[in-house]
Amino acid sequence: MKILMVSSEAVPWAKTGGLADTVSSLSLALEKQGHEVKIVIPRYYSIDRGKLTQLPGAMGVPVGGGEEWSAVYTTALPGTPKKKPLQVYFIDHEIFFGRDGIYGIPSQPDFPDNPRRFTFFCRAVFQLCRKIDWFPDIIHAHDWPAAMAPVFLKFAERAPGSAGEFAKTASLLTIHNLGYQGIYHKDNFWYAGLGWDVFYHAGFEDWNMMNLLKAGLYSADKLNTVSPNYAEETKTQALGFRLDGVLRYRSADYSGILNGIDTNLWNPAKDPYIPRKYSVKDMAGKALAKEALRKEFGLPPAEDAPIIGMVTRLTDQKGVGELFGPSYGSAWSICRDMDLQMVFLGSGEHWCENETKSLSSRLSNFKARIGYSEEMSHLIEAGSDFFLMPSRYEPCGLNQMYSLVYGTLPIVRNTGGLADTVENYDQDAGTGAGFLFDDLTPQAIYNTVGWAVWAWYNRRHHIEAMRLRGMKLDFSWEKSAKKYGALYEECLQSL
Ligand code: ADP
Ligand code: GLC
Repeated sequence: MKILMVSSEAVPWAKTGGLADTVSSLSLALEKQGHEVKIVIPRYYSIDRGKLTQLPGAMGVPVGGGEEWSAVYTTALPGTPKKKPLQVYFIDHEIFFGRDGIYGIPSQPDFPDNPRRFTFFCRAVFQLCRKIDWFPDIIHAHDWPAAMAPVFLKFAERAPGSAGEFAKTASLLTIHNLGYQGIYHKDNFWYAGLGWDVFYHAGFEDWNMMNLLKAGLYSADKLNTVSPNYAEETKTQALGFRLDGVLRYRSADYSGILNGIDTNLWNPAKDPYIPRKYSVKDMAGKALAKEALRKEFGLPPAEDAPIIGMVTRLTDQKGVGELFGPSYGSAWSICRDMDLQMVFLGSGEHWCENETKSLSSRLSNFKARIGYSEEMSHLIEAGSDFFLMPSRYEPCGLNQMYSLVYGTLPIVRNTGGLADTVENYDQDAGTGAGFLFDDLTPQAIYNTVGWAVWAWYNRRHHIEAMRLRGMKLDFSWEKSAKKYGALYEECLQSL
């Protein structure tokens, strides 16, 4: 089948979170299963044009009552065969994308022209297909920035009177995070070049505003999200971010498919970022990684203390308030009361960056690094004994899966994909591969970390057994890519 991935992020070019990993590694897995996949993303300023090949000629995109002119660049996705590369296309537009930032910059996290930037991008996708004379069976759109693609497909490209090249193309919209919807003033709608009837028909209307994700959810042929549990949760008022009604309305077309992980990049037996590679057969490398991690973060030598690692975006979604909130978060008391060490890597909300820095200077067993580092995130996964993810909600979550295959036991909230992937420790049977808690409160985080540390000092044989159990779990994309293949078939049948 021919599949076009439409996304605002894809590794190795543009990443703010797991969306970028998922788009590229799912595409690779689908290619391996015989599908023909192409990816399209914007050519952000940080993506070096010198490393890409420009397609000849300019490309006109019908938006804003006229035409915007853009260029198209391309290159192969790393890891695909030279003879049959998976082509990635970059839509280049100086005014919309010739600036720092994907969605915004720290002082302006959401660019005011984002509705136009991503409307333009989604419209450009169809022109790209014409330009390369390649018409996909499936347009697979990811999250709100790509949500206009299914809308344009249904209300422009497949509408009566259209040119018809996309008459047999179906769409799938994947929700990676319902917390981001792309809600803007409805004055921006004219730019799409669709009639006002479509504004209501396609479901843009949202309390007199324009909601891009909502329109995508109404317009795509099928919908899915990145874990079965999150698919259920998003249909409830508690985690539906006001769109639970829409998802219940479309529940016959809505399902959950667990993300996989890229087992070439995230594999302790192959990892170039750790001092020595390791596997279930030879775990010596894990102890070396722990030593290296201590050194890297300047933690004092501590014979037997476990290390708790954390790598995260600092946003409310990740439960950072309950952990680091000034005067109520539990990180301080965890580090004060328990015989453990903690390393932290992350960036995001300012208050939280400051708070973790301040904890770092006040506690000898807590060390934080603010910033983004692929390399360091691998060392943390390998060198830690436990990995903490107290997420408020978590559509899938990749780090708990990375942790499991690195023999690092996740301590996670019982929500979304975390609940689907982490089996809770049973201290009588000695089973499980991690530690789960239900309520997101500072006390619950404190208690659960305490439970893990208790097991560390009193049930070490359970810890070792759990490590090995986790490392043997299979989170490769193969199974999930097959499920996507089946879902694409369903999309086509729905036409
Ligand atoms: P989300 O997409 O909600 O942030 P995921 O767990 O799906 O959560 O994916 C997060 C991805 O981003 C992981 O690959 C994680 O290692 C990476 N990541 C997040 N913050 C950092 C950071 N500061 N440095 C390196 N990698 C990071
Ligand atoms: C989002 C979610 C995360 C998920 C990722 C990839 O960023 O927050 O849970 O793993 O998308 O699907």
